[in-house]
Amino acid sequence: MGNRVLDIVLIEPHHWLVGWHTADRLEATWPGGVFPCRPPADMISRAYLKMAEAVAWSRLPMRPGDRIVEIGSAPGGAAQRLVETGLQVVGIDPAEMDPLILGHPGFEHWRGKSSAIKRRRYAQFRWLAADMNVAPNYTLDAVGDIVQYPTSQFQGLILTLKLSSYDLAQHFDAYRARVHEWGFRRVDIRQLAFNRREVCLVAER
Ligand SMILES: C[S@@+](CC[C@H](N)C(=O)[O-])C[C@H]1O[C@@H](n2cnc3c(N)ncnc32)[C@H](O)[C@@H]1O
Repeated sequence: MGNRVLDIVLIEPHHWLVGWHTADRLEATWPGGVFPCRPPADMISRAYLKMAEAVAWSRLPMRPGDRIVEIGSAPGGAAQRLVETGLQVVGIDPAEMDPLILGHPGFEHWRGKSSAIKRRRYAQFRWLAADMNVAPNYTLDAVGDIVQYPTSQFQGLILTLKLSSYDLAQHFDAYRARVHEWGFRRVDIRQLAFNRREVCLVAER
């Protein structure tokens, strides 16, 4: 049994539709299913909105001060949102980060590809995000290699899976199964309101 949510649709100033619906999921409480988010005027990239929505939807128990690594962090919109929430962020990317995020005390850039970083260095992180412009199986190969390393202690993942074609949707069960195999109990996939041709996969131990 969900919560009842009041719906008001403004057609014209003097013509309103009023009704209600039952929300059984968090996103069903957001107007139009879109996470209500006011980005800053100096938003670095659209990834700010994706990350804001992903964190809210995921309900992962992230706390200020927790350490998160983001693979595919340039130019830095997602990291901008994460530092705003008090997380300590390391961004891994061979590309340049925006000077705005480079100047933030909660952010550090490890310049290079994720595969070039010694895997034991990932042991300091509780959370992992990835937003690489590569095929889903490549993202899962790269992330799987890191989270299955014996010293890794990841509690949750937020992955963007880019869909070069919508036909890739037929592999969602296989993607979920791969992540379950890494020891994550909850694995959910959703196309966020702020996603384009991509989906968000969230996993929690
Ligand atoms: C969509 S952009 C990321 C946007 C970013 N999350 C933001 O908040 O602005 C994709 C990035 O993935 C990076 N990338 C692709 N393969 C990578 C890898 N193996 N390791 C690290 N970064 C990678 C690219 O250099 C590119 O900057």
